[in-house]
Amino acid sequence: MGLLQGKVTIITGASRGLGKALAGRFACEGSSVVLAGRSYNLLKDVCREIHPPDGEAYPVRMDVTDPGSVNAAIHEIVERYGKIDVLINNAGIPMVSPSEDLAYENWKNTIDTNLTGVFLCSQAVAKQMMDRKTAGCIINISSTFGLSPVPQRAAYCSSKAAVDMLTKVLAAEWADKKIRVNAIAPGYLKTEFIGQLEQQGKLDIESLKKRIPQRRIGHPDEITGLAVYMAGDEATYLTGAVVYIDGGWTAYGFT
Ligand SMILES: NC(=O)c1ccc[n+]([C@@H]2O[C@H](COP(=O)([O-])OP(=O)(O)OC[C@H]3O[C@@H](n4cnc5c(N)ncnc54)[C@H](O)[C@@H]3O)[C@@H](O)[C@H]2O)c1
Repeated sequence: MGLLQGKVTIITGASRGLGKALAGRFACEGSSVVLAGRSYNLLKDVCREIHPPDGEAYPVRMDVTDPGSVNAAIHEIVERYGKIDVLINNAGIPMVSPSEDLAYENWKNTIDTNLTGVFLCSQAVAKQMMDRKTAGCIINISSTFGLSPVPQRAAYCSSKAAVDMLTKVLAAEWADKKIRVNAIAPGYLKTEFIGQLEQQGKLDIESLKKRIPQRRIGHPDEITGLAVYMAGDEATYLTGAVVYIDGGWTAYGFT
C-alpha cells in the first residue's frame, strides 16, 4: 500500500528533470498523477513510461504563465477526477546574465514562469479545494538561490526568494482551510536545466562541487522522498516550511 493511495497530484513542468522524477515517485506511492506542461506530445510519452500500480498518469496541456491556460487545465482535471489533493509547482526556468545586460523580456519571462506561474496554479487549485471543502497540499519547488545571492542571477534568485515568501503567506492564509503550503529548495541537481547552462559555458560543475560539502551534484531521486512526506498524512502539522536539500550548500559558511 503506497503512502499516497487514492490521491490526485498535479505536477507542473513534468516532461523531464525533477518534474518527471516526482511524477514517477508519486505514481509508485499510489497517487494518480497529472503531468502538466506545454509539450503535450512529450507529456503523453512520459505518461506511457509511468506505470502507476493504482490510478493513472494523465497529460494536460498547461502554460503556467497564462491564466487562461492554467484555469482550463485545472477545470479539465477536476472534471476528470472530481478533486485535486496535491499540487507541485515545479515548472521553472534558469536565467544567467550580467544584470546590466539582462533584457526586460528575460527578466519578465523568468518572473512570469518561476513566480507568477506558482501563484496562478496555487490560486486555481486552492479555489477548487475550498469549493469542495477538502484538505490539500501545495509544494513549491524553490531553490537554494532563493536564499543565497549569486551574481548574474538577479531574476532567478529574486523569483525563488519571492516563491519562499509566497509559500509562507499562502500557508498562513489558507491554514484554516486545511490547505498546507510548503517549499522544497534543492541545491544543484543533475537535470537538463544545469546541463544546458554547462553547455553554454555559464556553469563550471567542477568548481561548484568544491563549494558543496558533499562534493557532488544531487540527483532528482534524492528530492522526491521529501515531497512524498510533505504530501502524505504524516505531515499534517507541516506548513509554511522551506526545506533545503543541497548536500550542505546553505549550511556551509566559509567563502
Ligand atoms: N536542476 C537544478 O539544479 C535545480 C536546482 C534548484 C531548483 N531547481 C528547480 O527545480 C524545478 C525543476 O527544474 P529541472 O532541473 O527539472 O529543470 P528542467 O529544465 O529539466 O525542467 C523544467 C520543466 O519546466 C517546464 N516549463 C518551463 N516553463 C514552463 C511553462 N511556462 N509552463 C509549463 N511548463 C514549463 C519545462 O518545459 C520543463 O519540463 C525548477 O523550478 C527549478 O528552478 C532546479
